[in-house]
Amino acid sequence: MQVRVLGSAAGGGFPQWNCNCANCAGLRRGSVRALRRTQSSIAVSGNGVDWLLCNASPDILQQIQSFPALQPARAVRDTGIGAVLLMDAQIDHTTGLYMLRESRQPLQIWGTAPVREDLQSGHPVLRVLEHFCGTHWNELPVDGSEIEIPGTGGLRVRALALRSKAPPYSPHRHAPVPGDNIGVLLRDPASGRRLFYAPGLGEIEPHVREAMHQADCVLVDGTFWTDDEMQCVGARDKSARALGHLPQSGPGGMIEQLDGLPAATRKYLIHINNTNPILREDSAERAELAAHGIEVCHDGLDIAV
Ligand code: MLT
Ligand code: MN
Ligand code: ZN
Repeated sequence: MQVRVLGSAAGGGFPQWNCNCANCAGLRRGSVRALRRTQSSIAVSGNGVDWLLCNASPDILQQIQSFPALQPARAVRDTGIGAVLLMDAQIDHTTGLYMLRESRQPLQIWGTAPVREDLQSGHPVLRVLEHFCGTHWNELPVDGSEIEIPGTGGLRVRALALRSKAPPYSPHRHAPVPGDNIGVLLRDPASGRRLFYAPGLGEIEPHVREAMHQADCVLVDGTFWTDDEMQCVGARDKSARALGHLPQSGPGGMIEQLDGLPAATRKYLIHINNTNPILREDSAERAELAAHGIEVCHDGLDIAV
């Protein structure tokens, strides 16, 4: 199974257009050692030809241009994207669907029923796309069953309902339902290898931990280092946990959780907020991750699982 990290930043990207936190300002000035990053999305394939796009970020056009496998050019209009899998209905994961409106076929979208509802109501991108390419919604159950996704080189997916947050425009923002946010266990039956992907993960419940234990590689929520990170830089008055993201440091944090996985599991953080000190390659926080065998995704990273 091949994985390409198309975008590794959280909503807003890095640097964020209006942000002057130490990271964003430092990157613009050239005074911090860090890479620019677009908003989170990965492409996964079982055969290197047919790709599953996991989330459609606002930066998707740039991301497609940076990855030639998604532009195979076999016909006058062509794409390597065989299907789109949505983890939630957030802006940073769904706005890119508008950019795919020139598709010759209805977009094959995989997602849960609550995400579909959000995308027909609070953020009605599915209704808008009916005036362009149209969409075909493939419902992902969150009952533990595994499903084959056509157009991905044989990949199978198992979706897990997660504790995170539905977007502010969702009818379920304050009354969560299972499937507002999911993580996925992707399996390539040819190799038997598994990838766990959850860019938004607020709490690791037992069924999530079990899926992470089954994976050869985990790509998980790297949004915030501390719970009060956004408050500390004066960026926003919301804690990491209130936004549905488990911070990395501290008791019960992501580092501690990842430490509990088998030694052979490869561990990556993705969906990194621009305020997070792990973006600075020479930071103490980055060194701490390295000491725990945890890597930080950057745009363009290829992972062979
Ligand atoms: C989140 O995951 O909390 C989002 O990145 C928020 C957003 O896109 O505005
Ligand atoms: Mn996000
Ligand atoms: Zn910033």
